[in-house]
Amino acid sequence: MNTESSVLISVRQVTKTFKKNGREFCALRDCSFDVMKNEFLVIVGPTGCGKSTLLNLIAGLDFPTAGSILLNGETVTGPGADRGMIFQEYALLPWRSVLRNVELGFEFRKSEMSQSERHAEAMRCLEMVGLGYAVKKHPGELSGGMKRRASLAMILAIKPVILLMDGAFNALDSKTKMTMHQEITRIWETEKNTVVFVTSDLDEAVKLADRIVVLNRDGSIAAILRNDLPRPRLGSAARDPDFHHRFIAFREMVMNIIKKDAGLRTCAIS
Ligand SMILES: Nc1ncnc2c1ncn2[C@@H]1O[C@H](COP(=O)(O)OP(=O)(O)OP(=O)(O)O)[C@@H](O)[C@H]1O
Ligand SMILES: [Mg+2]
Repeated sequence: MNTESSVLISVRQVTKTFKKNGREFCALRDCSFDVMKNEFLVIVGPTGCGKSTLLNLIAGLDFPTAGSILLNGETVTGPGADRGMIFQEYALLPWRSVLRNVELGFEFRKSEMSQSERHAEAMRCLEMVGLGYAVKKHPGELSGGMKRRASLAMILAIKPVILLMDGAFNALDSKTKMTMHQEITRIWETEKNTVVFVTSDLDEAVKLADRIVVLNRDGSIAAILRNDLPRPRLGSAARDPDFHHRFIAFREMVMNIIKKDAGLRTCAIS
């Protein structure tokens, strides 16, 4: 749980429009919320509602049409090593081994570390995600779950204050997904970073989040919900009947907010 309550990221009245088929298309509509230091914030919503767009804006990979994104009170003007992004697609260089991919993280950090220090630190990051046994493999030899782990290790090597994760565990089998939930929770708890995590999997959202931002289909915010379920929420803790009951009730509540919006059409402004 977050121990500090100071604001790290401020999303202020953010609207984002794109040109789509010759028309202005509104992907995000007047969104405002804060992310606190060491918070695990999850963004959910139906496909196409603007989740990746929002994460890209926080990453500084794109800019709002109106409104602003502040990081520690300063307007975001581009990407920075303080924000590590895990994309919907994998971002591993196919010609480098897993270890060499992770070592790339230090190149982004422009660190003064010696090669042996880089090696030791890369190994630590790979051990942290449970991939210590496969460091010599190349991305083409990895399963989907292993690629996710390698991407996560690469980001951890950059030591970002903020982890931005877009569908990071999509399309993993349920066992690997469960393991990744344990890994990311442990990493977040030990490294004390702030996580903004996008998913369309409500189970995942409720397991991981301190708060959940629910987006409507038209790119506006439907709700911001505090998740009061106690931690740990994984493994044997999840089997407690009272916990299970509260888990299902909270997930239902999020689901109902999304369902309520199901009748709305994606907004197109001419
Ligand atoms: N660069 C762009 N140019 C034009 N339209 C875009 C661009 N990026 C996103 N969009 C549109 O904005 C809307 C929101 O897209 P976005 O990728 O943010 O959705 P999403 O919530 O991440 O969806 P999913 O759950 O499928 O990943 C979509 O209708 C998409 O087609
Ligand atoms: Mg997306």
